[in-house]
Amino acid sequence: MNTLVLIGAQWGDEGKGKIVHFLGKYADYVVRYQGGPNAGHTIILDGKPFVLHTIPSGMVLPGKICLIANGVVFDPEILYEEVNLLKKQKISVKNRLFISSAAHIILPYHKLLDELREKGNIRIGTTRRGIGPAYADKVVRIGIRLCDFVEEKTFKDLLEKNLREKMPVLKQITTANKIRSEIMKNYKRWKNFLKPMMADTALMLEEAAAKNKNILFESAQGTLLDIDFGTYPYVTSSNPISGGVCIGAGFPPTKIKYVLGIVKAYCTRVGEGPFPTELKDKLGEFMREKGLEYGATTGRPRRCGWFDAVAVRHSVRVNGIDSFAVTKLDCLKGINPLKICIAYKYKGKIIKEFPYSREIIAHCKPVYIEMPGFNQNIRNTDFNKIPENARKYILKLEELTKTKISLVSMGRTREETIVVSKPNPAYEERWGLI
Ligand code: IMP
Repeated sequence: MNTLVLIGAQWGDEGKGKIVHFLGKYADYVVRYQGGPNAGHTIILDGKPFVLHTIPSGMVLPGKICLIANGVVFDPEILYEEVNLLKKQKISVKNRLFISSAAHIILPYHKLLDELREKGNIRIGTTRRGIGPAYADKVVRIGIRLCDFVEEKTFKDLLEKNLREKMPVLKQITTANKIRSEIMKNYKRWKNFLKPMMADTALMLEEAAAKNKNILFESAQGTLLDIDFGTYPYVTSSNPISGGVCIGAGFPPTKIKYVLGIVKAYCTRVGEGPFPTELKDKLGEFMREKGLEYGATTGRPRRCGWFDAVAVRHSVRVNGIDSFAVTKLDCLKGINPLKICIAYKYKGKIIKEFPYSREIIAHCKPVYIEMPGFNQNIRNTDFNKIPENARKYILKLEELTKTKISLVSMGRTREETIVVSKPNPAYEERWGLI
């Protein structure tokens, strides 16, 4: 048995979908353990981009078993649409996609509450997919899990309890009757669609591990959006860090063998919140156009900036990252010099560790080193033959983050990936990371 946790080490959108597509061939199971349809994992299929929001990216690889584990919150309508989109690509989810009985459901009132909050005085710049309100319900213990949703009487009772609780806020924009009838109009279709996929995914994972299967855990969002370790309050409502696997999938920490961090060769963020290395100028716009930096879920333009080694070191620490996959190196072509943030300055003091204080992270100034840029295309899949300055840049990231780099991605398709040659402990070999 071998397990690999693939996490985003920045603010999400690091290119996790592509790397799952690349490594997925070694996996028997691909598991989503947190987040929901706020995610948008882009995979290039037959030359066209294909976006999955809730279903693990491994679904596009023949024969892989895909699990939506208990830590995920999912919207039945979005999931239904995703399954139909896959069907159009001749990809069937039958006996391949399973959803935890304990995963919580996002219902229309969650999306309304998300929108209302965003219009109020706490604006996070959420995806407005109802993620925060659904996780809030889970924590205050009024959430509806899949196993409760499929039992009609239980569900109706819970729906009424939720409406009674939420209407004092929602009555500004709608009525209980409207919400109830929208849900009940779809209820039977959703139930019939979901019931065959309902499973005890923690048990399935225990059995898979006992059969010596390879399991890939695919996170959504990124470490700097983690509810505990991100730039709170401008974060998502779950734990994308590697430890999230234990809670979000019921998988024991003692069985996690490898953590692969995904980082972009630069940095992006979508939504509100601090971003010390943000470029609010023409160079930032250049990066956005070069990298096609527009949200896969909302289409919003992403904010772009330099690689932040302070933030990524924090990610290495809280995730236990064994190695990195660096994506979008090709997008830095033509930028000279390249800058990397190695510390922050706040009120005259140098800060070397990522601060928790919202005041410091919002007002600190980055301290940069400069590296020479490159103008050539990166076509070669041999790391030693890529442009010298591109290679030096990667080796500098390795030095600054104190973490080895095992993969470099320089294009959208899985073929455009360099496996950087490194010493080979057995677990790396099994994931093709040597
Ligand atoms: P929520 O997850 O929709 O509540 O949004 C909270 C914050 O996380 C916002 O800043 C979103 O833009 C950000 N966010 C959520 N999902 C993603 C993602 O998949 N990629 C990048 N940012 C995300």
